[in-house]
Amino acid sequence: MPTVIARSKRKIEFGDFQTPPALARDVCRTLAKLGVRPATILEPTCGRGSLLEAAAEKFDDADQIVGFDVNPDYVAWTQRQLQRFQSAKPVVVESSDFFETDWPERLAPLSDPLLLIGNPPWVTNSALGGLGSTNLPVKKNSHGLRGLEALTGKSNFDISEWMLLRMIEWMQGRDATLAMLCKTAVARKVLHRGWSSGAAWSATSLYGIDALQHFAASVDACLLLIRSTADSQQVEPTAAVFETLDSKKPSSAIGLRDGSLVADVAAYERYRHLAGRSPIAWRSGVKHDCSKVLELRREGDRFRNGLGELVSLEPQFVFPMLKSSDIAQGKTTTNRWMLVTQRSIGEDTSAIERSAPQTWDYLSRHAELLDRRASSIYRGRPRFSVFGVGAYTFAPWKVAISGFYKRLAFQMIGPANGQPVVLDDTCYCLPCDSEEQARLFSEMLNSEVAQKFLSAFVFWDSKRPITIDLLQRLDLAKLSKQLGVVLPLFKTSSRRNSSQTGQRQLF
Ligand SMILES: C[S@@+](CC[C@H](N)C(=O)[O-])C[C@H]1O[C@@H](n2cnc3c(N)ncnc32)[C@H](O)[C@@H]1O
Repeated sequence: MPTVIARSKRKIEFGDFQTPPALARDVCRTLAKLGVRPATILEPTCGRGSLLEAAAEKFDDADQIVGFDVNPDYVAWTQRQLQRFQSAKPVVVESSDFFETDWPERLAPLSDPLLLIGNPPWVTNSALGGLGSTNLPVKKNSHGLRGLEALTGKSNFDISEWMLLRMIEWMQGRDATLAMLCKTAVARKVLHRGWSSGAAWSATSLYGIDALQHFAASVDACLLLIRSTADSQQVEPTAAVFETLDSKKPSSAIGLRDGSLVADVAAYERYRHLAGRSPIAWRSGVKHDCSKVLELRREGDRFRNGLGELVSLEPQFVFPMLKSSDIAQGKTTTNRWMLVTQRSIGEDTSAIERSAPQTWDYLSRHAELLDRRASSIYRGRPRFSVFGVGAYTFAPWKVAISGFYKRLAFQMIGPANGQPVVLDDTCYCLPCDSEEQARLFSEMLNSEVAQKFLSAFVFWDSKRPITIDLLQRLDLAKLSKQLGVVLPLFKTSSRRNSSQTGQRQLF
């Protein structure tokens, strides 16, 4: 393998984005301003040591400096860089794999106050999987990935998240400061985990850093700061969010409230009376994992699929569809269509052969692609199954939102060509019986008060900022009361007439 490729593979595998010395100095200046005065400076993945060096300079009365890295070349480099501090205090920099290190043994002799500083690797386990790398905690974890999933709550996770979750364990009962550069999404997960498990932290905050400038990485990143004392009790789970390392005042505060991570604590507190379990369920669009075969464009009375084939299909399984991008652009019709093989999850698909032979023939011709769908949700299901289907999929009217786009814009969608419009699985919707119902819901959801409530939960830098959990948190019954409108019932026939109740219609 050419050396350049080998080097770049290694860089990815070890999440190797070294902190520029100027940023390292800025981080330490911020820590000093906050009153951090460590006796021990420890960096578990110290790389070329710019943070250790900056900390050694800034905190010159620290008693000892300790660093580890898996890369022996970096260890040798850092030893050289820190040589000049050695006459004043012990400096230990060793080659060690985070996942193999006996941390309790390493940590026990270190005196407090402890500064845990660093910039753990920027890589996910799935990226490592793609590289065939074993730079993972699994090799030491007898429960394998399942144990990790239990710890991180998912099968794709950042290696830094796993490391940080270990580090917060080390802080228990110690006078310690954790100051780590990481993705903001990772920082939030670590805070969420710590707060939910009752970690006794005395203070927490996030300071934005420009990852593009410092690491050429286009991701939201921050300095995560967590402080604990030997006898700290759990304080209100809130972290101040500062735009930059130099910001004097926080721009907002995130926190754990009523079991959920909240993006804007002040807004949440103002609108928390609207929180609850919505009486009407939000639904995801249809999941099929085979867009080349199941997503189509109409050409005359035939359909063109993603493989470029022009095919004839009976009308009963083909529906007009909208994707996330359509919803985000405010489109209510397009020339996209979706072949939806079932009306409900698990429905027997073999009947298609009799009722729609051309459709069955089309599906059978592409069975290889459909049968090859990787997700385990299709295993043991009728052939050509889809997911996220039910009566709601075929509701004539819907209020929809895209999960991916950075706007809380709810869109009314009505039938096209006399057929219900279906959505792809990146969208969410409230199914409605009538246009009137859809109009009322969309006005309620686009109202200022609903937007403010929902915004309190949205982390706009997330991959999918809007989730079904978030939407479900807004209790539509409470919202209708606040707006003074009658909440429509699902069946149009059972809706109360707003004029009879004396409540006004919205807007
Ligand atoms: C993002 S770099 C940061 C390096 C240094 N902390 C800094 O701020 O410049 C991540 C470092 O983690 C090290 N690393 C990756 N996997 C490791 C492991 N399993 N054990 C110890 N160090 C590891 C890499 O060699 C790399 O130096």
